[in-house]
Amino acid sequence: MNRIELGNINLRSWQKKDIKSLARNANNKKIWDNLRDEFPYPYTEMAAKQWIAIANEDNPLTNFAIEYKGNAVGGVGIILKSDVFRKNAEIGYWLGEKYWNKGFATKAVNAMVEYSFQNFNIVRIFANVFETNVASIRVLEKCKFKKEAILEKAVIKNNKVQNCYIYSILKEDLL
Ligand SMILES: CC(C)(COP(=O)(O)OP(=O)(O)OC[C@H]1O[C@@H](n2cnc3c(N)ncnc32)[C@H](O)[C@@H]1OP(=O)(O)O)[C@@H](O)C(=O)NCCC(=O)NCCS
Repeated sequence: MNRIELGNINLRSWQKKDIKSLARNANNKKIWDNLRDEFPYPYTEMAAKQWIAIANEDNPLTNFAIEYKGNAVGGVGIILKSDVFRKNAEIGYWLGEKYWNKGFATKAVNAMVEYSFQNFNIVRIFANVFETNVASIRVLEKCKFKKEAILEKAVIKNNKVQNCYIYSILKEDLL
């Protein structure tokens, strides 16, 4: 499946036509501040092109654009874990600042969780969230993730060491 209809937003595969919209929405220090350093900043059109070239490698898809009015304005995806952790996936997501606080991420994360449990042989989805990221913590709580652990001083971002929380949801929680 490469399209999930959610009403005002949809999840769909990344496409070459998204390069400009991806770069425009992702190029924001407030977004980068809450993500791993490997997320590009500044987020150039070249970075967008590189992402779109690899985003559709997995089948079933593990990465989706969050589409609003035809434009890709954010992203949601999972990373499947390996070896003894192969029943786990880590979820990540971001949204262009113009679209914050409209419930879009909550809708996207809920849909991605349901899709991931249906399409992959996993039993647990988790998120690593920085302690200061109140918006994302709220999204996870609204999506019924449970706070599982506090990793003390586990993260360094912008030269500041901070705590990181692990939130998780089990497949059985959805039944
Ligand atoms: C996290 C993010 C995806 C949330 O997207 P969103 O579409 O605005 O999220 P939603 O609208 O679904 O929910 C946001 C919730 O956080 C709350 N919130 C936002 N900022 C807040 C703040 N400063 N203090 C308290 N609550 C806040 C909103 O009120 C809302 O909760 P509510 O529905 O109970 O009112 C977006 O802020 C983002 O892209 N941030 C940067 C990247 C990021 O942090 N990614 C996740 C990494 S773990």
